[in-house]
This record gives sequence, structure tokens and C-alpha cells, in this order.
Amino acid sequence: MSDLLQIKNIRKTFPGVVALDDVSFAVARGEIHTLLGENGAGKSTLMNVLTGLYHPDSGKITIAGQPVHFTSPRDSLAHGIGMVHQHFMLVPAHSVFENILLALDNVPNLFNRKTYKAEIQRLIDEFNLDLDLDTPVWKLSIGAQQWIELIKLLMRDCQLLILDEPTAVLTPQEADRLFDVLRRLKDQGKSIIFISHKMREVMEISDRVTILKKGNSIETLSRGDFDESKLASLMIGRDKIPQWQKNLQMSNEIVLDIQELSVRNDRGLADLDNFNLKLKKGEILGIAGVAGNGQKALAEVLTGLKNASQGRIIAKGEDITNSNARYSYIAGIAHIPEDRKTIGIAPDMSVGENLIMKSFKSGPFRNWIFQDKKAIRRNAEEKIEQFAIKTGPDGTPVRYLSGGNIQKVIIARELSEHPSVLVALYPTRGLDIGSAEYVHKVIADGAVRGMSTILIAEDLDELLKLSDRIAVMFRGKLVGYVDPRKTTREEIGLMMSGEFQGGTL
Ligand SMILES: Nc1ncnc2c1ncn2[C@@H]1O[C@H](COP(=O)(O)OP(=O)(O)OP(=O)(O)O)[C@@H](O)[C@H]1O
Ligand SMILES: [Mg+2]
Repeated sequence: MSDLLQIKNIRKTFPGVVALDDVSFAVARGEIHTLLGENGAGKSTLMNVLTGLYHPDSGKITIAGQPVHFTSPRDSLAHGIGMVHQHFMLVPAHSVFENILLALDNVPNLFNRKTYKAEIQRLIDEFNLDLDLDTPVWKLSIGAQQWIELIKLLMRDCQLLILDEPTAVLTPQEADRLFDVLRRLKDQGKSIIFISHKMREVMEISDRVTILKKGNSIETLSRGDFDESKLASLMIGRDKIPQWQKNLQMSNEIVLDIQELSVRNDRGLADLDNFNLKLKKGEILGIAGVAGNGQKALAEVLTGLKNASQGRIIAKGEDITNSNARYSYIAGIAHIPEDRKTIGIAPDMSVGENLIMKSFKSGPFRNWIFQDKKAIRRNAEEKIEQFAIKTGPDGTPVRYLSGGNIQKVIIARELSEHPSVLVALYPTRGLDIGSAEYVHKVIADGAVRGMSTILIAEDLDELLKLSDRIAVMFRGKLVGYVDPRKTTREEIGLMMSGEFQGGTL
């Protein structure tokens, strides 16, 4: 195996933070190389160095034996390194074809549309992608938008493709298809750097795995030399995985009663269609379903971000249908949203301010008409410790935090007011295994105190482990309930595809 890329002793600091301390590793031609590490370990920073977005303080990068110095993403692209971005850089109103053209250099003014189109179409066919070149981007699923980003890089003949948590936003089915494509690219001799927190995926796709811990590369292992538990113990080291227990004394009191609820989307179609659900006090109700079957609308209508066109939501005997977000929060409904960067946080405000954003008007953070800065700081310190949030010096804006740590800020804030109902969409997305377990513990401990949770997740293992009951959604309707202690993955799978109705429980 010849090395395409070598990284030696890379160091990158930000004011008050050592993001990368000393990182070395190599990527061979035709390999899928996974970077694994806890939230804040430095994975994304390293990729930003590699794509020329950040300059390292010290260290060396060589490509095919030649030292390189990147001053911008353009430089790294010119050397055949391309990154599939998480926050897609696409123009929604333009077609797929136009978006791909926009990304290409050297398109002649009077370019031959047909030739380009044929070439892109050839790539689509070769990799068997489900993508129509004339569709406007806003109509596409996240999975399809990711194909566009990938095609852009292939059109530029990139030899090293970087995918930073590509599967975090994909359904399990879409992730499988992505893996097929990655394997094919590898067979063509391309190299891939893959980042994921999902062990199942890491085991499936990696030729080698490099473990990053607190900004240091600690080991590179080849397939055959690692298994899930070995990787986990290298990654977590001596840190403890939190333990928790299920709430065994559930009551039959209904805290949330959703009756015949319908929600229409922007295109006038039904996101929720005559949806019925009863949530019991102290229970964790898992919602299974392929993403896009109304889960997001359910969360949004419950938290006052969307209006219902029909039906009622009764919380503790009070009708809260179509009340606003602030009101539903006061009614005790907390929300962990899917899209953390747009509705979960205020990116330019500090971690401390984000942590009190929903309680700033009241309680302990007010001193007469002023904000009580000391109390805000004390609260931040407490939450940062409790949730092991990795952040910079006091006052660091939230947007500088790593993806997983932003998620932890949202969860810490939403749970701090002891809500009676928690609506959580994919709460452990992007979290490392230790942090995911901590969030499970927080939800389970909340249940013991009487908090009820609607847990919307894709990972069936997560749902089966945490839930007291599982409800399955399909095309905006509730298909039925299953008992996690008695059901099987197959049974849930059939219900998710609408082929089988569960019981009532
Ligand atoms: N622009 C920046 N300014 C200040 N600190 C930063 C900046 N970018 C990253 N950091 C810090 O560098 C550290 C590493 O962050 P990075 O995003 O690389 O982690 P990660 O391994 O990708 O984590 P995750 O799994 O959560 O995505 C974090 O402590 C983060 O707060
Ligand atoms: Mg990251």
C-alpha cells in the first residue's frame, strides 16, 4: 500500500484551547480510513486543516511524498482533496445540474451543456445514484443533497474524499447506499477519510481506524486487529460509562393526549394525518419510523413551532393546540430539536447564555431588572461539569464548540427546568458513546422523577433499550404500539414499512 497522504505532528490551537496537540497518521491509496474519537477530540479541526480552512501552528502534510502548504480550500482541491460538507453549500432554487456546474472551475462561458450533463449523468449511472439532474435542490431529501456534494468532488477528480459524520443525517437505508458508493470509489483506487460515532458503521466500512483522543492520535489499527469493545476502550480510556436503570413504577395518568391531529406541510400535504397518541406520566415512549414519516411535524406541533389543521393536544387537562413555543415551554414541554444549528442555539452567544436562554426572564438568573452574571456563570460551570461539555474559556461563543458539544448544551438547557414532557428528536445524534449513554441516563433518571419522554429515534437498538413502549409511525399516522421486551427488530421493521399493524398496549 502506498501512502497518498501523510500527516505528521500537526498542532492547532485556538485562544485558550489546544484543539490538536500532536496528530500523525497516513492514508493509503484505495483505503477507507476512519477517524474515531470523543466529542471535541479534534476530528473536524483536523479535517479543516487538511482542506486548508485552518492553518496548523506546526506539523507537516505530504501528498504522494510532496510537502504541501494549503492556504485555502481551493489549494487542497487543486491537490485532489475534497470534503463533503455537512451543511451543504447548495442553492436551493437551482437544479441539481446547475448546482454542480456552479462548483466547477473552468466552465467555458459558452459551455456545452449537453456534454457536461452527459458526463454527470454517467457518474450518476455508474454509482447507481437516485438523482434527477433537473429537479430543484429544495425538493430533495438530505440524502440526495449529499449525492450532489459527492458528485461535485468526483467531477473535480478528487483522489481523497473526506466525509465528516455523513451518516448522522441519513436514514439507515440511505447510509447503506452511501457505503456501497464508498466501496466502489475505494475499488477505483480513491482514498476516503470517514468520521462517525456509530460503531456498527465503523466496524462495517473501515480498512483502518485511527483513534484521536484530546487532540492526539493515539493508535492506528487495521481491520482484523480491532473490534467494537477494543475501539471503545481506546477511545474512552479510563472514563466511566454511566449506569442507569429503567423507571419501574409507571403510572397510568395521561399527561399528553393527542387526538386526531393533522398537520399540513408547505406543499399542502399531510405531515400528520389523523394522529392519535397518549403519553403516560413517567414513561419513555419511543417513536420508530423511517425519517420523513411525520416525526419532525409531531415534535414541532407539540412544541408550538407548527400549527395543526385539525385535532387537539391536551396537556394535563388543558387544550394547548396551536399555542406558541413560549407557552408550550411554560406548560412544561421541552424540545431537543433535530436541526441543532438553526433552531437549537444562538451561535454567537456564549455557552453560559445559551444554557439559560429559556429561563432568562425568571428565577435565579435575574437580579431585579438585571441579569445576574454570577448566577449565569455558576450555572454554566455546573452544566459543563455535569454534561462533560468541552468548551473554550469563559464566554466562548457556542458556534466554536464541536458538533457533539453543541448538542450537549441544548440537552443540558432543555432538561435544566425539569420539564414534565420532553420531546426529543434524535437526541444522541453526533454524540460519542460515553455522551450518548449519559443522555440515556438523564432521560431515564427524569422518568424516575415523573418526566415523560417522547423519544424519536432511528436507531432501533436505542429505542429498544430505553423505551417503555414503542409506537411506530408511517406516512403521518400511528401504525401501532409494541412492547420493547416482547417485540423483534423484524416486527418493528415491518410496521415501519406500513406492512403490519401492531397492537394497542
Ligand atoms: N474556530 C474555533 N475556535 C475556537 N475553538 C475551536 C474552534 N474550532 C474548534 N474548536 C475547539 O477545538 C476542539 C476540537 O473540536 P472539533 O470540532 O475538532 O471536535 P470533533 O472531534 O470534531 O468533535 P465532534 O465529535 O463533537 O464533532 C473543541 O474543544 C472545540 O471547541
Ligand atoms: Mg466534529
